[in-house]
Formats: sequence, C-alpha cells, structure tokens
Amino acid sequence: IKRIGVMTSGGDSPGMNAAIRAVVRACAYYRIECVGFMMGFQGMIDGEYIELNARSVRNIINLGGTILKSARSKEFRTKEGRAKAAAHLKEANVDAMILIGGDGTFKGGQIFSEEHDIPVIGVPGTIDNDIFGTHYTIGYDTALNTVIDAVDKIRDTASSHNRLFFVEVMGRDAGFIALNSGIGAGAEEILIPEEDLGLDRLLNSLERSRRSGKTSSIVIVSEGDKIGKNVFELAAYVKENLPYYDAKVTVLGHIQRGGSPTCFDRVLASRLCVKAVELALDGQRDIMVGMMNNEIQAIELEKALKSKPTINKDLLRISDILSV
Ligand code: F6P
Repeated sequence: IKRIGVMTSGGDSPGMNAAIRAVVRACAYYRIECVGFMMGFQGMIDGEYIELNARSVRNIINLGGTILKSARSKEFRTKEGRAKAAAHLKEANVDAMILIGGDGTFKGGQIFSEEHDIPVIGVPGTIDNDIFGTHYTIGYDTALNTVIDAVDKIRDTASSHNRLFFVEVMGRDAGFIALNSGIGAGAEEILIPEEDLGLDRLLNSLERSRRSGKTSSIVIVSEGDKIGKNVFELAAYVKENLPYYDAKVTVLGHIQRGGSPTCFDRVLASRLCVKAVELALDGQRDIMVGMMNNEIQAIELEKALKSKPTINKDLLRISDILSV
C-alpha cells in the first residue's frame, strides 16, 4: 500500500474533520500518500480529488462539517457509476479507500470492493449511533450535547409559561439520540421507535405529571417514532385529550448535525482513523473499525451491515423513575 484515498459520505457529523485529519496524519507518519475525494462517492465517480499532506489538515480538528464535503450519491448505486469510480481510483493509483460515513456508505463500499477488488475500510461517522460493531459513532456525542443545550433553553421558556413541549430529535429509525438526550435533559417522556408505549400511556403519564404538581413538561420524540403520525399531530392529539395543556412543538432538525465536535468525538475519530490506516497497511480489507468497551477493534463490513445495535431499554425505566 502506497497511497490511500479518504472520503466522507452520507449525512455529515461533527468530528468528520478530526477523522480526515487523523487519516492524513497517520498516512504522513507511516510515509504513504493520501488523497481526499470530494462529495463522497460522487467525487470518486467524477475523479474529483485533492492531494493531502500533514499540513493540509491543520486547524480542522475543531471544525464541524467536513472539508471533503458529503453527499448521498444516486449514481454510485448503479454498476456504471461504480465502474467509473473504479477507473478513477486506478488512474489516481489509490490502493485502498477509507470511507467515513454510515451504513449507506458501508453498503456502497462493500459492493464496490467486491466488484472492483479495491480494499475498503469503514469508519463509523453519523450522529445516529445506529451502526453495529461500535458502541459510539463519530458525531453522536456532539449531537447529544447540542440537543441537551437546546432542550435546556426550551425548559426555561416552558417553565415560564407553564407549557408542555414536544421536542423532535433526529436519529432516523433509531432512538439513541432521543433516549440519551432525554435522560440528560430530564425529559418527562421519551418516545423512541424501538418501544411503542402507546398513546394512552403518554396521556396517563402527562396527567399524572400535572396531578403531581408539575407545571411544565418536556417530551422528547425521536423522528422515527411511530406513536403519532408526526410530532405535530401527536401534540394536537394530546391537546385534544388534555385541553389544560398549552402544548408546543420544536423540531431541532439540522442544528444537530453541526457545531464543533466534543472532546469525546475528536478522540474517538483520532483513535478509529489511526487504526483504519494501520489495518489498511496491514493488508486488511472490507472491515469497519469500531470502539467496543473502550477498545478499538475491527469487524467485517458484512457483519456490521447485517445487524443493528440494540438500545438499552433500561434507560426508559430510569427515565420513568426520575420523572416521578
Ligand atoms: O443520518 C443522519 C441524519 O441526520 C438522520 O438523523 C436524519 O434522518 C437524516 O440524516 C436527514 O437527512 P438529510 O440531511 O438528507 O435531510
């Protein structure tokens, strides 16, 4: 291996720049070349890449977003698109690719590697934390902190006006962000796709809250939750059934994807990406690096893609106890 390519793909996440920096610096340390492809798979298809050296990644460890930009490429889902990408990688003399992204990125990478015999190594970067084979994905911790900062502010105004707030958070089909930020922000209820608690339970719980003397409440709703059709309809339903509540909705949206990464995400990105480069140098391929119990380890991409990480449902019980 003499030359490694790196790219970021899918929804961006805070810490992706720290990850790019770690790939580039590890390559420099081991005296191999590194190139960065722009806009994820699309840059591979278009042959749009830049040479990167240790100095090209100065002052980016603290930045949100990704200097290589990101996209979800439709063209890469086609055989023709992948063939174009392979031709460009050969032209650029790239011996292995490090793909920073989520499961869509890894799926694309796996098919690509099989078809074109180009080694790929995945690094989990997504705020959703929904990747099997790692307890944490790059960006998740920062997103959690962004959510609790926002909910702390909502709490101030909720309390001043005696209001009930439904706060929708991201996570796609996974409830990690909702569950952990919900506990961290002291929410009364947390609704996640992994556990359908039902509308009656929600109404009873809000009713109990009111009777116990609470004047304002916060419900964290994961965007993938199916209890209401959407968070606005859910709030309307609650208003209809519990008319004494002045219910409001806040959708946090893409602020959860931005911002300077937390120290945890920077360290995670650094550790995962040094390992990714070392494994590429060792001739390993079609794997994903992850952190399990604070150890950096690799699993086959195929295995990572076959399963979903399980949510710790005991946290729902903790939330219940603490919102008494
Ligand atoms: O996967 C990250 C994520 O932010 C999800 O939480 C969310 O469902 C999705 O991406 C939003 O995607 P887009 O930025 O394309 O709207």
